[in-house]
Amino acid sequence: MPTISFINQNLNITVAPGATILEAARAANIEIESPCNAVGTCGKCSVRLLDAAQLDHVNDSSDNHLSQVDRAAGYVLACQTSVYGDIEVIVHSKADENRRLNILAEGESFDYAGDPYITKRAGGDVTKVFGGETLLGIEPGDTTEYAYGIALDIGTTTLVAELIHLPTGERLASESMLNPQSTYAQDVLTRIHFAAQEGGLQTLHEAFLSAFSSLRDRLIQTAKINPRHVYEVVYSGNTTMLHLAAGVDPAPLGKYPYILNIIGGEHIPATSLGLSPFGQIYLPPIISAFVGADITSGILVSRLEQKAGATLFIDIGTNGEIVLAQGGRLAATSTAAGPAFEGMNIVCGARAVPGSVEQFQIDGDGRPAYKTIGGARAIGICGSGLLDIVGELVRSGVVGKNGRFVSPDQGGYAEPLKAAMRRHEGKFAFFITDDVFITQRDIRQVQLAKGAIRSGITALLAKLSIPETFVDEVLIAGSFGYHLCESSLLNIGLIPPAFAGKVRFVGNTSQSGAAAFLLNTGFRAGMREMALKVDKVELADTPDFEKLFIASLGF
Ligand code: FES
Repeated sequence: MPTISFINQNLNITVAPGATILEAARAANIEIESPCNAVGTCGKCSVRLLDAAQLDHVNDSSDNHLSQVDRAAGYVLACQTSVYGDIEVIVHSKADENRRLNILAEGESFDYAGDPYITKRAGGDVTKVFGGETLLGIEPGDTTEYAYGIALDIGTTTLVAELIHLPTGERLASESMLNPQSTYAQDVLTRIHFAAQEGGLQTLHEAFLSAFSSLRDRLIQTAKINPRHVYEVVYSGNTTMLHLAAGVDPAPLGKYPYILNIIGGEHIPATSLGLSPFGQIYLPPIISAFVGADITSGILVSRLEQKAGATLFIDIGTNGEIVLAQGGRLAATSTAAGPAFEGMNIVCGARAVPGSVEQFQIDGDGRPAYKTIGGARAIGICGSGLLDIVGELVRSGVVGKNGRFVSPDQGGYAEPLKAAMRRHEGKFAFFITDDVFITQRDIRQVQLAKGAIRSGITALLAKLSIPETFVDEVLIAGSFGYHLCESSLLNIGLIPPAFAGKVRFVGNTSQSGAAAFLLNTGFRAGMREMALKVDKVELADTPDFEKLFIASLGF
């Protein structure tokens, strides 16, 4: 029987001949990122054999994603590589990636009075803890000063947790990490699919719980408080993430008629979170299967209901959720943008880690320049860099309106740009450095993602009969949105020219909304009513949506 030695983890696993490296890693609880869940399409599960000669002991059935150079260096896709002899494998540590990742924790908010759901009253030798008017429990002594809550943003890709002192609203600590569920399935639909497999829901729920306990321990350590004094956690996230975090089957969300097993606006016990024995989890109201509590949080802190004119709120992520507000009326929709904006399914795509190209410009003489996160050596391209690059290539004529590279001998663009157009595996690619480049297929991914969001904007405006020019303000939310600039969005046509000068980036409003729900219980009933009233626009039901989507693909 072959043995796999995982070098960094100091673990040796014996496997049946023909088992894949990913199967062995999962059995040993070693995390290897596998967003497509071993289908072989994402290319993100690459690991390296310590000695390339050991390639003779495996059979790697993947035919793309890895260059000849990588293969010669011993890289293989863990999910596609069957093992027949002893090998030594190097897997990047998840902890390292978490430490390096730039996650946006802050979101815009507004001034509101403190009125938390959790209150305490001391009398005699005890303190009574209330949730609203309900007595939750009694503690010995006077503990009124010690009342804490956690506002938790459960993103498809990242988790952000903030520890807050409830009586004063003081933010004591903030922590973030990758959502470990993304190692099993990258986006919402593949995660629903994974949860439907035997043991899948439990695997995803346990991955969430273990991530929460790690965040909790770091918060508690920083703030030096007793975890038994944390009484409430607000979960803000999309509808599927809330189901998975609550351990509830999300399967009906994946198929018509998209039934919700939880609707939000409710409490569940927090017994599995290692907090106060009578701790509570609050799930904010959910709008629909595809417009979740994260958007309810965004609507709350952006004061969308109070806006006088027409305002568009767009959360750009794997799913693009779009809300249109006008005079207190709200309509919402969701489009499947795919993971390109998170640097996934892009040959040199990367998350927002040091070395990721985050900005790119071409000057008047056609000279390209880029900036990486932390000023480190370029190792890949994150979402904002990707949009900058494509936008600038379109603007300078290297990429045509149809999304195709214009070859250097036909193109009328500047010499430095021609020099950057080189062959990669026989086809033209644009090279930012010798190792970091963008391919025709990557540009196609950006087209599909931006086409999804642009067609969603157009359909929603049409539904409410609001011309593009009547939109007063465009709020861009989501951790991805933070690194963007308006001109990139305009250059690639993700937003129409009529929105120029109206864009404001509001950051992680899912997180700031969770904090608002935690600190003022009055928002809960108000937002429950709002969620019921929102006009839910189903793009698939929009006449000629296919045609609209295709028309939105061009640059
Ligand atoms: S290619 Fe291996 S998990 Fe996606």
